[in-house]
Amino acid sequence: MARIAILPGDGIGLEVTREAVRVLEAATRVWGLDLELVHWDLGADRFLETGVTVTDEEFDALANDHDAILLGALGDPRVPGNEHARDILLGLRFRLDLYVNWRPAELLLPQLGALRDVEGRAIRLDVFRENTEGVYVNLGGRFKAGTPDEIAIQEDVNSWKGVERIIRAAFEFARDRGRGRVTMVDKANAMPAAGALWRRAFEAVGSEFGEIRRDTMYVDAMAMDLVRRPEEYEVLVTGNLFGDILSDLAAEITGGLGMAPSANLHPGRHALYEPVHGSAPDIAGKGIANPMGAIACAGLVLDQVGCREGAEAVDAAIRTALEREVTTPDLGGVATTEEVGAWIAATLDDSQPTESTDG
Ligand SMILES: NC(=O)c1ccc[n+]([C@@H]2O[C@H](COP(=O)([O-])OP(=O)(O)OC[C@H]3O[C@@H](n4cnc5c(N)ncnc54)[C@H](O)[C@@H]3O)[C@@H](O)[C@H]2O)c1
Repeated sequence: MARIAILPGDGIGLEVTREAVRVLEAATRVWGLDLELVHWDLGADRFLETGVTVTDEEFDALANDHDAILLGALGDPRVPGNEHARDILLGLRFRLDLYVNWRPAELLLPQLGALRDVEGRAIRLDVFRENTEGVYVNLGGRFKAGTPDEIAIQEDVNSWKGVERIIRAAFEFARDRGRGRVTMVDKANAMPAAGALWRRAFEAVGSEFGEIRRDTMYVDAMAMDLVRRPEEYEVLVTGNLFGDILSDLAAEITGGLGMAPSANLHPGRHALYEPVHGSAPDIAGKGIANPMGAIACAGLVLDQVGCREGAEAVDAAIRTALEREVTTPDLGGVATTEEVGAWIAATLDDSQPTESTDG
């Protein structure tokens, strides 16, 4: 039996997670999975009612009593400081040591991406973003805050251990999935201390994977090249900040934020899946959020619990929904969030499993 914690969160997180759950329930029926979905109410509503973001006991339960976490999104204009999102999401990333942030982005139909002339260009990017260090550790402080003499220091933390393991995860992924190239993205010309450590680790780990081509790019050139010729690249590995930015760019050139799933992983220990997008307060409650990124995360959950066939069926159903234009307005369609989710779940229900999977 596998237990999955469901954390819808805030805004459209609630709406898209409902559809991801619908798809997981369909897969459970079709493939006879032993999957328990445990619903959690962590988010802005609870924080505003109780003043509690997440307790130590809840962290322990999420870490130890569940096989994976499926998160919607966190962020609510009623909590301008975003304390709850920081405590819950960054808390989970840091406390569970989820050092891999894998963000796959694939252009499934040429007209979905933001670039023109992409017909016949196979765009599939896998961004490996370091998820526990960099500038996101919030080390630093403000001096003479609020005065004209204010100084703000935000440190960039790069440990050998942290850098080596994310680079290794990227190469292992490339080897396991038959990808031929890993590109490391940094800013070693302007940030030479961090750059030297990253490049030393990249050479050390990369030399163990001689069959995989390796190269490095400065982040500014990478941003330009991802727009110019994204089909040239395969696996990108980079730090927390650059990975955050480049993965949004990768998402946009392959269909937009609503399409993009992501996995926060400590391989072999913990997994948290979430769509790349946020809580989108501008469209929350309108029923038009694209649930495909969240549903793709449901596919990743199925893969993790050993139901490869279900995971492939979810990917195939998403592709078919796109081809038949069962899409939300961000992709030019007229379907609601619920209609897209129900369509994909019904497509799964119609699947004929070739094998029974014991989840
Ligand atoms: N992992 C997370 O939980 C996460 C990630 C990013 C932002 N946030 C939070 O979300 C809130 C809003 O942030 P933001 O506006 O910068 O980013 P956002 O991703 O929520 O929205 C950016 C734009 O993309 C659109 N969009 C996003 N997801 C969509 C979807 N599924 N379907 C259709 N359109 C979609 C939105 O309408 C908006 O115009 C903030 O509180 C932010 O801190 C949370």
